[in-house]
Amino acid sequence: MTILVFPAELKSQEKRCAVLPVNVKAYKLLGATVQVQAGIGAAIHVTDEEYAEAGADIVTSRSELLSNADIVLSLHKLSVDELAHLKPSTMIVSYLDPFNERDFVTRLCDKHITSISMEMIPRISRCQKMDALSSQASLAGYVMVMQAANQLNNVLPMMMTPAGTLKPAKVFVIGAGVAGLQAIATAKRLGASVTAFDTRTVVAEQVHSLGAKFLDIDLGETGETGQGYAQALTPEQMQIQQREQAKCIADSDIVITTAQLFGRKPPQLINLPTVESMQAGSVIVDMAAENGGNVEGSIAGEVITHNGVTIIGTGSWANGVAKHATQMYANNLFNLVSEFWHKEDNTFSLDLEDEVQSGCIVTYQGQVVNAMLQSIYAENHSSTDQKEEA
Ligand code: NAI
Repeated sequence: MTILVFPAELKSQEKRCAVLPVNVKAYKLLGATVQVQAGIGAAIHVTDEEYAEAGADIVTSRSELLSNADIVLSLHKLSVDELAHLKPSTMIVSYLDPFNERDFVTRLCDKHITSISMEMIPRISRCQKMDALSSQASLAGYVMVMQAANQLNNVLPMMMTPAGTLKPAKVFVIGAGVAGLQAIATAKRLGASVTAFDTRTVVAEQVHSLGAKFLDIDLGETGETGQGYAQALTPEQMQIQQREQAKCIADSDIVITTAQLFGRKPPQLINLPTVESMQAGSVIVDMAAENGGNVEGSIAGEVITHNGVTIIGTGSWANGVAKHATQMYANNLFNLVSEFWHKEDNTFSLDLEDEVQSGCIVTYQGQVVNAMLQSIYAENHSSTDQKEEA
């Protein structure tokens, strides 16, 4: 019988986890054995008793839990040291950040651990139910508006009262992907006047359908990748964008930046002079603060003030609604496991030819097997070889 184990999340301040009791029941119905680390749901007020009632074994020792595993499912990846507890050919499934965590991926190869990166689930219709980037980004969009509204000294909706009329807040959202669209929808629901911009002009229609305006900036050819991600702009296009959006930013009460480039550093879209052009009391939320930032001056994990403008770089946005975020992430994991569950022998069927698995499996049998990553890791190897030869 395949043993699925769910360790508690150790990252500081993390409240989410990778499984709820309802998922335990569903995994049991598939025919799996489920073990969870004691206290896994404590931060979202789900007790060990609830997990046990659903059919999970509660294991107190983390090292024992990991050594029992056929598959380890978590939100954040295990530490390198913890890999020592796993049996060879154990599978791990979590966020892995494989473009940046090269030492970790190399260790997975050394230990013959099979790994699935939740960031690498293909963005195709078949995978929407497993797409953790989307589920967490959507909640992030909501949380960013809430945090901005909390910092602003004004209300968001227009209010006509005997004591006077209050104008609606002006919100500008840069990047209208999953997080940006949810931020637009949330700000609209709260009654703000919302404008958005994205380099992928195809999203203008989606922005309009939410009742927001789309800022028209002519950047020439921008395009998108086969998976629907934005292409990086040229330096000239970046300059045009920064110049053309400056007035909208100066006029806004809240600016929310959500611009990302898959597998690359996010673009810096707002410089300090533009921040300084905003009214004192305005608020910027930089969704990308943890990865380098869309906004000059934003600090990861912090809320700062520059020239009277509050810049929120808190990060871990979905963690702000941790129970719902857990519900969505845990469902993404379950949908992934159940999609490939082999009922006859109650195992996860590995199939590297499958479109989904070939997209998200990073390591298998001691090799990096993902096509997108192979070239990067091959470069790594050849530069190490060259250094060694020198
Ligand atoms: P993301 O997190 O990589 O980027 C966020 C947004 O930033 C994107 O809309 C991107 O165009 C925009 N951006 C990049 N550079 C910018 C700049 N300089 N200025 C303004 N905006 C900039 O993208 P996300 O949100 O993860 O998804 C992007 C797209 O992927 C979606 O809109 C959709 O088309 C596609 N997708 C498809 C799914 C599917 O299952 N079919 C699921 C999820 C996303």
